[in-house]
Amino acid sequence: MTRMVVLTGAGISAESGVPTFRGADGLWEGHRVEDVATPEAFETDPDTVLAFYDARRRALPLVEPNSAHRALARLEGAIGDDLLVVTQNVDDLHERAGTGNLVHMHGELLRALCLACGARPVWHDDLIDRPPCPACGERMLRPDVVWFGEMPYELDRIEQAIVVCDMFVSIGTSGSVYPAAGYAALAAAFGARTVELNLEPSDAVVPFDEVRVGPASRHVPEWVEERIAIHRP
Ligand code: APR
Repeated sequence: MTRMVVLTGAGISAESGVPTFRGADGLWEGHRVEDVATPEAFETDPDTVLAFYDARRRALPLVEPNSAHRALARLEGAIGDDLLVVTQNVDDLHERAGTGNLVHMHGELLRALCLACGARPVWHDDLIDRPPCPACGERMLRPDVVWFGEMPYELDRIEQAIVVCDMFVSIGTSGSVYPAAGYAALAAAFGARTVELNLEPSDAVVPFDEVRVGPASRHVPEWVEERIAIHRP
């Protein structure tokens, strides 16, 4: 039995047409992070922040999961709960591909967060018009995404899975945002084998045991098929 934690970042959704954050054409190229992805930005200019996330939410139905998302869902089909997928992505491509054992540590575009009552309703519409919260009726909904300076979701569950896993795999993330950026080192410290599948090697603090460089749509299905073959009795 091999317990696995797979951490994914924007790179896994890039070939579906969802822009990554850093680098040429990255989302942060056209925007200053502090203008759209901080609590301070939301306080000073909520319309700009809401419009930014409304545009990203509207783009979601136009993209589809790719072969990398689908491969991870096949892996879960093969090894079940021994796989936990932790994503930094706020898109819904992992769940649309069929992954169920999933943590959205940076929140979800398809949820809103009510600043009045704390509800996190599923949300598919724009927020810019200040719709009422379905739970309490107050018009204080924000995107349920984790901004810089805020605490990511389900950190205890993630860390508990990492310290007991046998293999930690990082896919399509630049490793520049903590705490996710520290997870490979944590897994290694607790004895896991660490693997990176990325378009380019990231600036890992502790080197990965294995690095496969190239597009996720190629490397992830290949790696998954190898794992499923090893798992088969
Ligand atoms: N296949 C594999 N990897 C890819 C591909 C691809 N087709 N395309 C790009 N990549 C890699 C890039 O080389 C880069 O290392 O994906 C990584 C994307 O890095 P970032 O844009 O920094 O995205 P991510 O690591 O997910 O960002 C982390 O930062 O702004 C915050 O909250 C935001 O969750 C996000 C966090």
